[in-house]
Amino acid sequence: MTPARNRQFRLKSRPQGRISADHFDFCQEAPPEPGEGQARVRVLYLSLDPTNRIWMSDMDQYMPPVAIGEVMRGGGIGVVEASRSSRYREGDLVTGLTGWQDYCLADEGENAMSVLPEGLPVSLPTMLGACGMTGITAYFGLLDLGRPQAGETVVVSAAAGAVGSVVGQIAKIQGCRAVGIAGGPDKCRYLVEELGFDAAVDYKSADWQEQLAAATPDGIDVNFENVGGEIMEAVMRRMNLFSRMPLCGMISGYNQQEPMRGDFSPILMRRIDVRGFIVMDFLDRYAEAAAQLAQWVMEGRIKHRETIVEGLEQAPEAVNMLFDGGNVGKLVVKVSEA
Ligand SMILES: NC(=O)c1ccc[n+]([C@@H]2O[C@H](COP(=O)([O-])OP(=O)(O)OC[C@H]3O[C@@H](n4cnc5c(N)ncnc54)[C@H](OP(=O)(O)O)[C@@H]3O)[C@@H](O)[C@H]2O)c1
Repeated sequence: MTPARNRQFRLKSRPQGRISADHFDFCQEAPPEPGEGQARVRVLYLSLDPTNRIWMSDMDQYMPPVAIGEVMRGGGIGVVEASRSSRYREGDLVTGLTGWQDYCLADEGENAMSVLPEGLPVSLPTMLGACGMTGITAYFGLLDLGRPQAGETVVVSAAAGAVGSVVGQIAKIQGCRAVGIAGGPDKCRYLVEELGFDAAVDYKSADWQEQLAAATPDGIDVNFENVGGEIMEAVMRRMNLFSRMPLCGMISGYNQQEPMRGDFSPILMRRIDVRGFIVMDFLDRYAEAAAQLAQWVMEGRIKHRETIVEGLEQAPEAVNMLFDGGNVGKLVVKVSEA
């Protein structure tokens, strides 16, 4: 039976600064009927990501911006409700670009989704976080690009978030000193007391640069950069000769109209290996990362939290939590019951 309605957020205008529901048309249409080679997927959880903000803008980016009038792009997990494809069976859990809507179509080509294995050992939100896209980002960014060696110091910004929390814990597994930068005493306590970071720096306190210096007495060998701006510059000034800097994100600039500027001199003076990356660069190795992350999670060596917002209608406002620091761990929206 075809369900009654498909609510969709279609981009109406490009935000300047904060995002609000006014930037979208919240419309309804009939849920899609799968054609040959397609399946209809009911969305269960949406992943909210800083990159949603990038996609809403027309800044220079790694995928085409979401067009005005188009359903807002977003990752998620859903369940197959009707299928005319041998790739998907009714009841399969699938993950991929669902969009901000109740239902989407998965196909066997450009809009293919990955079928999740049966009997998942972790919850669906965790499959979007520590064992999903953000965990995979942490895994490749740190291990392949950061190349941490035991005894080295790894610093990560946005450390209590989805990517950062996993970065610090993988650094510990590698035998490194893990230092997290996060906003506020609660998040800093969480990093040290629950996740096992060696030290945390509260960038919202007046003496954060002194805290950073005290936390990195031997300098910094790997900076996993998530924030950019002033925090990135302060960290770079403490980086060691021939250190590495996976450049994962620059969230402090995503709501700004002006391109971010910075002091590049430490890159030259300390010969820092800076490497920007997008997790999709490692698409052909996702299975490796997912298996390892799941094992670490099952062993309790990677702990994780998810911040779950109820209801698709909350999505536009909820994205702002990423910019206000309202989330701990992975931010997801629960769209419907599994
Ligand atoms: N390259 C890739 O493929 C890839 C993939 C996923 C994510 N990313 C990037 O990784 C970063 C983290 O993403 P995520 O999904 O894990 O988000 P997240 O860390 O779960 O959430 C974002 C966090 O960033 C912090 N933040 C926001 N604005 C800030 C500012 N102006 N200064 C300092 N901290 C700020 C907030 O924490 P506080 O409370 O600590 O301020 C917030 O909770 C983002 O830059 C994102 O674009 C890149």
